[in-house]
Amino acid sequence: MDDDIRDILIGRASIAKRLDELAAQMLADHTEAGHEPAELTLVPILTGAMIFASDLIRRLPVKMQIRVMSISSYPGDATTSRGASVEAALTRIPESLAGLHVVLIDDILDTGTTLLKASELLRAKGPASLKTCVLLRKERDVPPVIEADYVAFSVPDEFVVGYGLDYDDYYRNLPDIAVLKPEVFGGDGHSDDADAAGER
Ligand code: IMP
Ligand code: MG
Repeated sequence: MDDDIRDILIGRASIAKRLDELAAQMLADHTEAGHEPAELTLVPILTGAMIFASDLIRRLPVKMQIRVMSISSYPGDATTSRGASVEAALTRIPESLAGLHVVLIDDILDTGTTLLKASELLRAKGPASLKTCVLLRKERDVPPVIEADYVAFSVPDEFVVGYGLDYDDYYRNLPDIAVLKPEVFGGDGHSDDADAAGER
């Protein structure tokens, strides 16, 4: 696996340090002066947000529930935008989110299609509040269709793997965030070449 890596963009120590900051900020944002932090409902999007969410939640010492959601992306041609659809069988969101403070978590904000789709679904269930949180935000020429409230890191517009992010469902277990060697894709390593990765 390590032989396939071109560069490490963000190492495990930087990730851990940034997660401490992010959790502290999230906690502060959900705490009214003189009160205990609010109960949270965390919604990680499978499968990419799994590692990030599991490290983040252990930094949040509050009453919380975890409700997973699965969204599949359908890559088209390099020039057409991808769609996103909710996979009902792997999605566990209650009928109503009334009174709940929800934090939606994804691995990476690229076009924003996935985060937009997921947040629309959650908002329709009437939560008391909804925040969005991503590990990575790609620096693209075209801005995403939605911005995230919490972003751990910005990354260049390259296809990245590790710490939950995959290429063809591999490399999620890399403890760092990395870029693969071009020969692994059979292209120059840019996102469009990775569309062959299929469902993300
Ligand atoms: P969006 O809908 O275009 O914002 O894409 C978001 C989804 O595509 C994420 O949930 C990822 O699963 C996947 N994705 C986008 N860029 C990358 C990448 O560089 N590496 C791995 N997965 C990616
Ligand atoms: Mg994903």
